Amino acid sequence: MRVVLGVSGGIAAYKAAALLRLFSESGHDVTVVPTAAALEFVGAPTWAALSGKPVASDVWTAVDRVPHVRIGQEAELVVVAPATADLLAKAACGLADDLLTATLLTARCPVVFAPAMHTEMWLHPATQANVATLRSRGAHVIDPASGRLTGADTGPGRLPEPADIAAEALAVAAAAQRAATAAEAPGAAAENATGMPLAGLRVVVTAGGTREPLDPVRFLGNRSSGKQGVALAEVAASRGADVTLVACNLDASVLPRAAMRMVTAGSALELADAVSREASSADVVVMCAAVADFRPKHYAAAKIKKTHRGVDDDAAPVVELVRNPDILAGLVADRGTEASPVIVGFAAETGDASGSVLELSRAKLARKGCDLLVANEVGSDLTFGADTNTVHLLFRDGRPDRTVGPTTKRRVAEAVWDAVLALTGARPTRKD
Ligand code: C5P
Repeated sequence: MRVVLGVSGGIAAYKAAALLRLFSESGHDVTVVPTAAALEFVGAPTWAALSGKPVASDVWTAVDRVPHVRIGQEAELVVVAPATADLLAKAACGLADDLLTATLLTARCPVVFAPAMHTEMWLHPATQANVATLRSRGAHVIDPASGRLTGADTGPGRLPEPADIAAEALAVAAAAQRAATAAEAPGAAAENATGMPLAGLRVVVTAGGTREPLDPVRFLGNRSSGKQGVALAEVAASRGADVTLVACNLDASVLPRAAMRMVTAGSALELADAVSREASSADVVVMCAAVADFRPKHYAAAKIKKTHRGVDDDAAPVVELVRNPDILAGLVADRGTEASPVIVGFAAETGDASGSVLELSRAKLARKGCDLLVANEVGSDLTFGADTNTVHLLFRDGRPDRTVGPTTKRRVAEAVWDAVLALTGARPTRKD
């Protein structure tokens, strides 16, 4: 997606560099348009180096390419972060005295403002009126966070974390894309005919691996990269589904390139909360994330020290573990009969003396009771972090197993959605 990142002149401009990286490392093409004041905080070389493109704040640079019109016209998403009180006022009035304000007037794509300023400026009736004007025209203005401001003072006016801004902006773009698709092809039949076989379906995909905190700096984690889950979310979005990705500790390089709603969860308990919130209105839930079966029984509020007074230097602490809830099994247990979601589980198996990967996976399908189990063979050099995968698709309703791969995680995702589509065909969706 072509993203324009507008940066106006506030101290939080430095955080926009992290936002730029989040967008560009997840595959978006980012053009940075700073205001002259923003360049007082973070210079043009930083923006040019991080975006790989020349940077200007005035309308007189590279005039032959008419940037004051072209950048806005070509944008698919404009995000202004930080948006100062001055920038919001100019945008509300429709001023166009530099490249960013001109871009805001020519953009016809979703526009997201992330304001950051001192509390007094944010709460001033002039700023609030400008925000209301921008919202009434369809712009998305994110409420600033509360917390420490530039000096010693605290209050509302802080720029939200870059990852939260990126997630909200991509969700806004995804909603706009869905609305455009629906306007072009109303009705499921028309949508299917346009190659959007998942249009009208709300799907939730979990991706990544949980981290179970032990103390403020340590956790018990696993080697899941989240690539397969992100591929599943991207394919679902490309086929027209309304996708929510529940991201567990994803590296920025793995984040989805397609526009979609994203929520984050760190530990298994946070994931359980997120899934129960999101799954209640879903047609399909794909539990691709690797969830820790156990978590430390006690969380140490302070870092656990290597040595304790009175304890011999060689003594090692014993970490007691407790079971995490099985989220997938819980979803299956909770579902009703009417319009219940199709539930897809994943099984990462190594095979052992008690059975082969397929035998263990069949037993797991029976135990978990999900509709489809995607089983893959894992080992230190297989699957985790790789771009390819081999999986077996096992169905609860007695359809024959299917083996997919070795192939890319994208093709595996396509095969999983083909299988899900066959299963959803017989069910009502949760469309109102
Ligand atoms: O039992 P196992 O961990 O192999 O099952 C894997 C499947 O169960 C995956 O779909 C995973 O997301 C899900 N799971 C879960 N809650 C757990 C453990 C696994 O939802 N506590």
